[in-house]
Amino acid sequence: MQDIKGKSILITGGSLGIGLGMAEHLVALGAKVAITSRDENRIKSAVEQLSGSGEDVLGIQADVRNMDEMNDAVNQVKSAFGGLDVVVANAGVGHFGSIEELSLDQWNQTIDINLTGVFNTVKASIPALKQSKGYIITIASLAGTNFFAKGSAYNASKFGVVGFSQAIMLDLRPYDIKVSTIMPGSVTSHFAGHTPDENDGWKIQPEDLGQMVADLLRMNPRTLPSKIEVRPTKPPGA
Ligand SMILES: NC(=O)c1ccc[n+]([C@@H]2O[C@H](COP(=O)([O-])OP(=O)(O)OC[C@H]3O[C@@H](n4cnc5c(N)ncnc54)[C@H](OP(=O)(O)O)[C@@H]3O)[C@@H](O)[C@H]2O)c1
Repeated sequence: MQDIKGKSILITGGSLGIGLGMAEHLVALGAKVAITSRDENRIKSAVEQLSGSGEDVLGIQADVRNMDEMNDAVNQVKSAFGGLDVVVANAGVGHFGSIEELSLDQWNQTIDINLTGVFNTVKASIPALKQSKGYIITIASLAGTNFFAKGSAYNASKFGVVGFSQAIMLDLRPYDIKVSTIMPGSVTSHFAGHTPDENDGWKIQPEDLGQMVADLLRMNPRTLPSKIEVRPTKPPGA
């Protein structure tokens, strides 16, 4: 996989934040990148933003909770780019509150998008990745190993993503499909209603995770960093 130029990459949740930043970095390296989002307008403006840095960009309106939409998204990528080499299961949401505050709807949305959405994305992609001997990268979180108050739904979803990713890494390596999970700490994005501002400079930036994805793809095929924790070097108070 070592040459990124020309690789066909599908990133879920590419309309904003980490997904968009990773897409920008990978397009600039010459990859063919498809991004998904639930929202037609957001996906259109993200594609316009990306098209400035490269030609091979595809926007797909698809909700990771919907298996049919994810199957269709993979088919669109195969038609447009001639195959699928890399899937980045990134789409996610954050609902935070104590167990007494958290509603069933917030719980269901968190699990359905952050965990079942990763399952749907992977499941839809496997046949194409078997052909390309491709790569699956899931975006988990440090919340997938560190639990905290008011984090029950998010912690449950991200602990789940980490376990799922490690198990499928074992399932899929006989097909020469690599699986890595990236577990970031704080990243500048629109996560949980945040608006990026000038106080975000200490955080990981989305393009840094794009660089990390590129580094993983460039890794010698015999070596697999399967679970990667990544954190801001110097958070406030450190
Ligand atoms: N920011 C952090 O500090 C941080 C740290 C660790 C891990 N993460 C993880 O990083 C991932 C990306 O989050 P972010 O920080 O970039 O947040 P963000 O700025 O809010 O972006 C989230 C992205 O996910 C998409 N999305 C949400 N639900 C979706 C669905 N059902 N189907 C398809 N796309 C969906 C959104 O698109 P639409 O709204 O347009 O559908 C958007 O593109 C998440 O998995 C998050 O848990 C974030």
